[in-house]
Amino acid sequence: MKGLVLSGGKGTRLRPITHTAAKQLVPVANKPILFFVLENLAEAQVKDVGVIVSPETGPAIQEAVGDGSRFGISITWITQDRPGGLAHAVKVARPFLGDSPFVMYLGDNLIETRITAFVKEFKAGDAAAMILLKAVADPSASGVAVVDAHGHVVRLVEKPKVPPSNLALVGVYFFRNAIHAAIDAIKPSARGELEITDAIQRLLDTGARVDSRIITDWWLDTGKKDDLLAANTTVLTSWCRRKIEGDVDSASEVTGEVEIGPGTTVRNSKVKGPSVIGRDCRIVDSVIDPFTSIGDHSRILRSHVRHTVLLGHCHIEGVDAVENSLIGLNAQVRSSGKHRGPLHLSLGDDSTVDL
Ligand code: DAU
Repeated sequence: MKGLVLSGGKGTRLRPITHTAAKQLVPVANKPILFFVLENLAEAQVKDVGVIVSPETGPAIQEAVGDGSRFGISITWITQDRPGGLAHAVKVARPFLGDSPFVMYLGDNLIETRITAFVKEFKAGDAAAMILLKAVADPSASGVAVVDAHGHVVRLVEKPKVPPSNLALVGVYFFRNAIHAAIDAIKPSARGELEITDAIQRLLDTGARVDSRIITDWWLDTGKKDDLLAANTTVLTSWCRRKIEGDVDSASEVTGEVEIGPGTTVRNSKVKGPSVIGRDCRIVDSVIDPFTSIGDHSRILRSHVRHTVLLGHCHIEGVDAVENSLIGLNAQVRSSGKHRGPLHLSLGDDSTVDL
């Protein structure tokens, strides 16, 4: 079973916060979303993985991921010259995929579910495709499926104004090679893309069986500031484990599930988990409260930070409290001590705030 990760697309940023043009590289709990995807595939023993990238964001993604050895997988990079749709990406990947069954995983989807069991079930069965679904209040921004009592898919529609069910397509799909003929038979949608939903509908129209599984644990959005902070909180709560690699002095107190990266020093400070502090940071005379992620090479001096994401190379000094904030790369927030009360910030890369 091969893997196909879709990490191309238009490169919409987490505007206006970060110049990190690839949304798959936005960090949650200090780790790019795409890394969670590759780890999930590796855990399911899917080790031959093609990654679709766009010409614009491909180089940044390749640099961040490397050759895949850190995940224990082998990566074939596949450039899609334009964001022609999810089915177009499969078409571009055809030389890599051959006639092998494969799992297609959208590189911007952050799910709790481990896919190991689904990979085994799909391999052992004979369905042409299998999709993952999640019941949500409003699925109109997703693909939506109608299923029968056996979980067989009856009908699919992409981003319907009036959803025919509450079951949204999560971005993980399992295919046998019949999908290629189905993709060859479809036309671009109204938004000008070759939709994988239309290709799966085509499988159904030609009498093929498409199975589904409903997931019940979290599936997170990271498109906007509040979504990203909520995703950070959820991932830290679920997965953060105590691991102190940095140097904490005896005047400091670290409680709960806290990760502190190598090269980081903590002096006369309190850090409460779940929280993660990257590598080569300095935390001095400060309090870091739960649900905080601090990117590499940041300095927090005489400040209080809680429920906040700092993307890295940040400098916070003398600030009474920073909370519910998203702070871009290389940003600085300094207070001369006159300001009182918590700050709620949304700061782009390279910003400076002097209070
Ligand atoms: O997130 C789940 C949803 O993903 C599904 O419910 C929808 O049925 C499915 O069409 C898709 O919808 P989106 O509109 O959210 O897809 P988006 O354009 O954001 O692309 C998803 C991922 O695939 C993202 O990592 C970018 C990548 N991509 C996208 C396109 C259009 C490519 O690699 N190539 C492309 O041509």
